[in-house]
Amino acid sequence: MATPCATQYLSAQDAADIVRRLGLVDCLRGMAASIEADFRRWPDFDTSARLAHHSAEGVIELMPISDGRAYSFKYVNGHPRNTRLGLPTVMAFGVLADVATGVPLLLSELTLTTALRTAATSAVAARALARPDSRVMALIGNGAQSEFQALAFHHLLGITSLRLFDVDPQATAKLQRNLAADAPGLQVQACDSVAEALRGADIVTTVTADKARATVLRADMLAPGLHLNAVGGDCPGKTELAADVLHAASVFVEYEPQTRVEGDVQQMPADFPVTELWRVLRGEAPGRRHAQELTVFDSVGFALEDFSALRFMRDCAQALGMRRTLALIPELDDPKDLFALVRSPATQLAPLPASTPATAETPQAA
Ligand SMILES: NC(=O)c1ccc[n+]([C@@H]2O[C@H](COP(=O)([O-])OP(=O)(O)OC[C@H]3O[C@@H](n4cnc5c(N)ncnc54)[C@H](O)[C@@H]3O)[C@@H](O)[C@H]2O)c1
Repeated sequence: MATPCATQYLSAQDAADIVRRLGLVDCLRGMAASIEADFRRWPDFDTSARLAHHSAEGVIELMPISDGRAYSFKYVNGHPRNTRLGLPTVMAFGVLADVATGVPLLLSELTLTTALRTAATSAVAARALARPDSRVMALIGNGAQSEFQALAFHHLLGITSLRLFDVDPQATAKLQRNLAADAPGLQVQACDSVAEALRGADIVTTVTADKARATVLRADMLAPGLHLNAVGGDCPGKTELAADVLHAASVFVEYEPQTRVEGDVQQMPADFPVTELWRVLRGEAPGRRHAQELTVFDSVGFALEDFSALRFMRDCAQALGMRRTLALIPELDDPKDLFALVRSPATQLAPLPASTPATAETPQAA
């Protein structure tokens, strides 16, 4: 008898249905709780920096991680010029597997899920690092990730006022339309420059896409006490913060070996001090020390966040009775007889004698 190993499947539409049925805010809350819980058990994970393949246009990355019981990987790209071709800058899918057998348990879209998990992670970091009285956020870069960042900071941090800037005014107009419909309690102001967007801000989120050493923020633009949620600088040669911002700040990262290569701190010497966020969440390192401190979360996206997000989405799908599966792995009557899948009917093997177990080992010569 074949052992069943069907893989649960979540399409892009399935993920959107989960979010609609459970509510975006509850999904952001649930995902933030899962990510924070997994960050707090960081030593359980076998961590490694992601494997990146670069081209002139962008990057394609594989992001694996395991906690010894479950394993996941994400495939994700970053192509800032894609939107001109009608494609998203960031597209992703991923797999959750059983470590004991290697069976792929879930194959899921991760484009929408990445936007949710990135915003949820930003909120987890900001809860630990921003001033608790933060109410105003500047949001620089108003593309695909921006609504999720806006809503996570509104609902999970208590941000009540947003100041928007993008070099593309149509992106800002799109964000304003979406937020007017989905977050009527949020005050939203479109601005003509980064400097204007920063006026009165307690938190600044930069989520721009440009494969360049951009300097969206310089130290002389920043008021004391700000928290910077720097999301868009996530690849070698792709930064958002001037080096003087990092010199002036306490810098927090997801996984130091990866962020040293990919984050805004790629501009800094190898001994530039950074603190991994999990240590703050576990109470092993201080977060913000005083109200005047400038804090930076130099986010690049780490595999643990996708591990948490995949498990969260799988649990949501199961709770909602969504049980679509894919026959990704062949089911074999004899696991050693993979050839049975392609054997010509004319050459079917004669049935084995009843006394011979189909899976018996071939006796070894002494
Ligand atoms: N850290 C993470 O975990 C993580 C996760 C997902 C995406 N990202 C990164 O976030 C960035 C945004 O992703 P997206 O999916 O929203 O991309 P997107 O292309 O949909 O939007 C990016 C926006 O940035 C704007 N922009 C570019 N340069 C700018 C500048 N100098 N000032 C103001 N606006 C500028 C563009 O006009 C565009 O509207 C990308 O760089 C992506 O790689 C990071």
